[in-house]
Amino acid sequence: MTNRTLVIVTVIGCLLVALVSDSFRSYADADEKPEHKLPAGPLGETIKLGEALVEQTVTHPLTKEFVGNSLNCTSCHLKNGTDPMAATLLGVATAYPAWSPRENRVITLEDRVLNCFMRSCNGVRPPLGSKPSVAITAYITWLSSGQPVKLNGKAPQGPNAVPTLAIKADKADLVRGEKLYAAKCASCHAMGGEGRKENPPVWGAKSFNQGAGLANADKLAAWLKVAMPLDDPDLTEQAAVDVAAFVDSKPRPEFVLKDHLPKEGKLGEYNAEPKR
Ligand code: HEC
Ligand code: HEC
Repeated sequence: MTNRTLVIVTVIGCLLVALVSDSFRSYADADEKPEHKLPAGPLGETIKLGEALVEQTVTHPLTKEFVGNSLNCTSCHLKNGTDPMAATLLGVATAYPAWSPRENRVITLEDRVLNCFMRSCNGVRPPLGSKPSVAITAYITWLSSGQPVKLNGKAPQGPNAVPTLAIKADKADLVRGEKLYAAKCASCHAMGGEGRKENPPVWGAKSFNQGAGLANADKLAAWLKVAMPLDDPDLTEQAAVDVAAFVDSKPRPEFVLKDHLPKEGKLGEYNAEPKR
C-alpha cells in the first residue's frame, strides 16, 4: 500500500469505528487529550447519562418531573455546556465548593446544579444524591478534567463565566428592543415569545421564572451578546441591552422559593447502598 492509500484506509476505518461504537456526541470524542476520554465502567456510564440529561431535561424520564417549563439545560448552556462562551460548563467544576451570596452559604457544584432546576427550569429541586443530580454533576465535573482547582470565594461562578457588559439595563430603550426582537429573534422565538418547534419560549408560562439569572436584564444582555442569534451572535452591547430589557419586560412565572423545594424529608438522600 502507498502511504496515501494507508492514510485513506485509516481515516475510513476510524470513521466506521466512530459510527458503530457510540452515538455519544461529546466533547470527549472530539478531543484527543487523554484526560478527556470517558473513564471506563459505571463512572463513564454516569457521565454519559449526565450529558443526556443536560440535553433532554424536559423529556428524560429521570428529570422531567423536576422541570416546570420547556427548557433543557442546553437551551442556555449551549451545546450541552461545551460552547466556550454561552454560560459554558467548561471549567466550572474547578470553582466549587464556592461562596454563594444568594444562598448565604458555601455551596457545592451539586447544589448549584439543583438551583438551576428551581429557577431557570422553573421546577422542583431534585433530591441531593439522587440519580439525576449525581449524573449531571459527574458530567459537569468531567468537563473540567485536567484543569487546576481554584475555589471561588466570591461567587458561584466558574473561570469562563459570561463577561458582564459595560452598558447597563438602565440605559435600555424598550422601543428599540422590540424592533430588534422582531428583526432578529421572532423568526425563531415567535412574536409572542412562545417559541416554535426546536426554538424554546423566551417569556410566558413555559419560560424561565423571575428567580432565574436570565430574568435579570443585565445578565440576559451579557448572555445574548455571546449566544444569540443562535450560531451567529452579532448584537452590539447596546442592542443586547435593548433586546434583553424588552424580553425581560414581558410576563413570566413568579418565583416563590417554597414552591420549588421538595417535600420535607425528600430534600436529600442517603447516598449509599450498604451491602449489609
Ligand atoms: C434559562 C437559562 C438556563 C437554563 C435552562 C439552565 N441554566 Fe444553568 N445557568 C444559567 C445562567 C445564565 C447561569 C450563570 C452563568 C454565568 O454566570 O456564566 C447558570 C449557571 C449554572 C451553573 C454554574 C456555572 C458556573 O459558572 O459556576 C451550573 C452548574 C448550571 N447553571 C447548571 C445547569 C443545569 C444542570 C441546568 C439544567 C437542569 C441548567 N443550568 C439550566 C442559565 C440557565
Ligand atoms: C435561528 C433561530 C434563533 C434565533 C434567530 C434566535 N434564537 Fe434564541 N434560541 C434558539 C434556540 C434553538 C435556542 C435553544 C438552544 C438549544 O437548545 O440548543 C435559543 C435559546 C434562547 C434563549 C434561552 C432559552 C430560552 O428560551 O429562554 C433565549 C433567552 C434566547 N434564545 C433569546 C433570543 C433572542 C433575544 C434572540 C434575538 C436577538 C434570539 N434568541 C435569536 C434559536 C434562535
